[in-house]
Amino acid sequence: MHAINSEMLNQIIYIYLISSLSAVCYCLENGLARTPPMGWLSWERFRCNTDCTNDPYNCISERLFQVMADLLVSEGYASAGYEYVNIDDCWLEKHRGPAGQLLSDHKRFPNGMKALSDYIHARGLKFGIYEDYGNYTCAGYPGIIGYEESDAIQFAAWNVDYVKLDGCYAQPYDMDRGYSEFGRYLNSTGKPMVYSCSWPVYQIYAGIQPNFSAIQSHCNLWRNYDDIQDSWASVENIIDYYGNNQDIIAPNAGPGHWNDPDMLIIGNFGLSYEQAKTQFAVWAILAAPLLMSVDLRTIRPEFKDILLNRKIIAVDQDPLGIQGRRIYKHKGIEIWSKPISPVYQIYYSYAIAFINRRTDGTPSDISVTLKELGLINLSGYRVEDLYENVDYGILYPHTKIKVKVNPSGVVMLKAETQYLKNV
Ligand code: GLA
Repeated sequence: MHAINSEMLNQIIYIYLISSLSAVCYCLENGLARTPPMGWLSWERFRCNTDCTNDPYNCISERLFQVMADLLVSEGYASAGYEYVNIDDCWLEKHRGPAGQLLSDHKRFPNGMKALSDYIHARGLKFGIYEDYGNYTCAGYPGIIGYEESDAIQFAAWNVDYVKLDGCYAQPYDMDRGYSEFGRYLNSTGKPMVYSCSWPVYQIYAGIQPNFSAIQSHCNLWRNYDDIQDSWASVENIIDYYGNNQDIIAPNAGPGHWNDPDMLIIGNFGLSYEQAKTQFAVWAILAAPLLMSVDLRTIRPEFKDILLNRKIIAVDQDPLGIQGRRIYKHKGIEIWSKPISPVYQIYYSYAIAFINRRTDGTPSDISVTLKELGLINLSGYRVEDLYENVDYGILYPHTKIKVKVNPSGVVMLKAETQYLKNV
């Protein structure tokens, strides 16, 4: 049994409250991404497969995005909130057109980007595209440098709703100027476009301390860390990064501006069922964009159910937009907590994820009072499990809760603050 050391927890919760209260920002207000963007993105699962001759069903082509758009609607993802259909790298011709314009690959996108955009919009969805601030995209297609203004105008003409701007083949020290300039060009088109930046991650890799207030004032979301890969090790690595660096990272998130720990890989080859539940829980605690990168034609039902868990989606999409934190980590057991609505006086509601990073093959018991989790409203909290159908009823700060967490799994609770003084 893992009983939680309350002194340690209280200290962490204190730091947490202080830093979330002090977050003031002059952030981008383009009216977009008031909650973390949700949708589908091709990269992690489909990569740069351009071989439509031998692999027509999986290559990066208009057909792939049309099929995924159809499935987002017909399989219920759209009604759960997943709205963006986002193209990643490898949609371009290798060279620009004679007037310097971007050209989509004429074989794989025979009808062009506007037709694909129309197809997606006709289904009530939104259309996202990928480019790169440098000379080339990461996979070697033309980047935007030298064409920033005309490319922004081109995206608007294609009715693009979301632009992911990568940072390969660019100078990281030039990004403060370049990313903000391109953001201004996007805004001055008059077409609202979510702006996803890779600005901080390339600067961090180059040893530059990113200027997060500048990033917040130009971007709706940004990548901080490594690309996700199809493995639990990769997910754990990202979870550790966001936990270890939360004092710097978490205060930067809020409505309109989000940290992006990268795509959801749930339903692919690398994660077990437990691990997939853990990724979804932690991404929701982090107020992360929920961008699925999975083959929606073949996803198994149990993974689909995770992605469609509306209670956990609601945690991610909570209107307060507060990024949660790791409040406890000891011997492979972690507790993550996110303040959510409703709020009563000074008392937030919380989503709480108990994570078992241990590999000793049997579930671990975790036992903790609500007070030790920072839940001190004497009127109590209505506590429910967000994966299992368990309602704990109203619990009070002194109540001890005990959860059993599977190896590499999670138990996720919501504690809704109570309005009436019942004590
Ligand atoms: C970088 C990005 C990825 C993906 C690839 C495409 O690695 O971080 O998310 O866009 O480029 O080449």
